[in-house]
Amino acid sequence: MAKKKEDGKIETIEDLPGIGEKTAEKLKEAGYDNLMSIAVAPISEICDAADITETTAGKAVNAARNALSMSFKSGEEVLKQKEEISKITTGSTTFNDLIGGGIETQSIFEAFGEFGSGKTQLGLQLAVNVQLPEEQGGIGGVAVFIDTENTFRPERIKQMADNLGLDPQEVLRKIFVARAYSSDHQMLLVEKVDELIKKEKLPVKLIIVDSLMALFRAEFTGRGTLANRQQKLNRHLHVLQRLADKHNLAVYVTNQVQARPDIFFGNPTDSVGGHILKHASQFRVYLRKGKAGKRIARLVDSPYLPEGEAVFNVTNKGLEDA
Ligand code: GTP
Ligand code: MG
Repeated sequence: MAKKKEDGKIETIEDLPGIGEKTAEKLKEAGYDNLMSIAVAPISEICDAADITETTAGKAVNAARNALSMSFKSGEEVLKQKEEISKITTGSTTFNDLIGGGIETQSIFEAFGEFGSGKTQLGLQLAVNVQLPEEQGGIGGVAVFIDTENTFRPERIKQMADNLGLDPQEVLRKIFVARAYSSDHQMLLVEKVDELIKKEKLPVKLIIVDSLMALFRAEFTGRGTLANRQQKLNRHLHVLQRLADKHNLAVYVTNQVQARPDIFFGNPTDSVGGHILKHASQFRVYLRKGKAGKRIARLVDSPYLPEGEAVFNVTNKGLEDA
């Protein structure tokens, strides 16, 4: 058995009850390498991954949840947490109005659309705008950019920063970019954000995952693997949501569209990721190209905002009103 801490403090997976060195090793191999990944995992998955009984897995998961204080809150506390929500401007007032003022903290915001529709541009713009002071539509925080398609463009960030009168070098210093090479790597990078905040004391207020689904899609091909993919995706989204709640930060993810040959009328496209993603993201915006280089954002399935559209421009300066 791994030596447990004398004070019983739970900080790593080895500190969990019933988890010895060998079990910890197996869990790590299966991608459960920190407390949060265990706390949000279904107990059955932990059983399978570590070859332990359901009782042991249940105890470990509960201990991880307790260590991260994931338990009940009073309605009053929930209200208090809601009151702390901040919004990041997109750069376009019509777009902001469409989504209730800007991209919110404590939520997952998904932008989906065809190539060139502006998903990455919005991500880059948000990475700059989150740094603005509140009076200018920001939160005065730093951004984490998880790049799965090699689309991060520092030159473009400089242009956007210049346009806002910010020091481009300083803006770049406050964006932490990581390239993800596999879906496991992508999940690991997201889990590391917790350490950036706790250990490095970085005021991360925005996590961008561009694109959320590309690696999952490339790795899990064929029908047989779909359930597996969705299970992992579910875990990934839970970790993102947990970070959003715990640290009052915003999550922006991009997604491709897939052709829906079964739909002949209306919009024959849908975002990749299925129901799991639809339920996980509180804000879903469909982006498309309009006339004369304009972009159109359509808010879909919002729980409390009216559906509608906003037109904006992507120019040399960044995102702007059309
Ligand atoms: P995929 O990742 O390929 O699915 O597309 P996307 O939705 O991420 O598209 P992206 O956000 O990369 O948008 C690309 C478009 O933004 C280009 O076709 C240009 O119209 C516009 N754009 C990008 N950079 C600039 C720039 O520096 N100046 C101007 N004026 N437009 C730009
Ligand atoms: Mg892109």
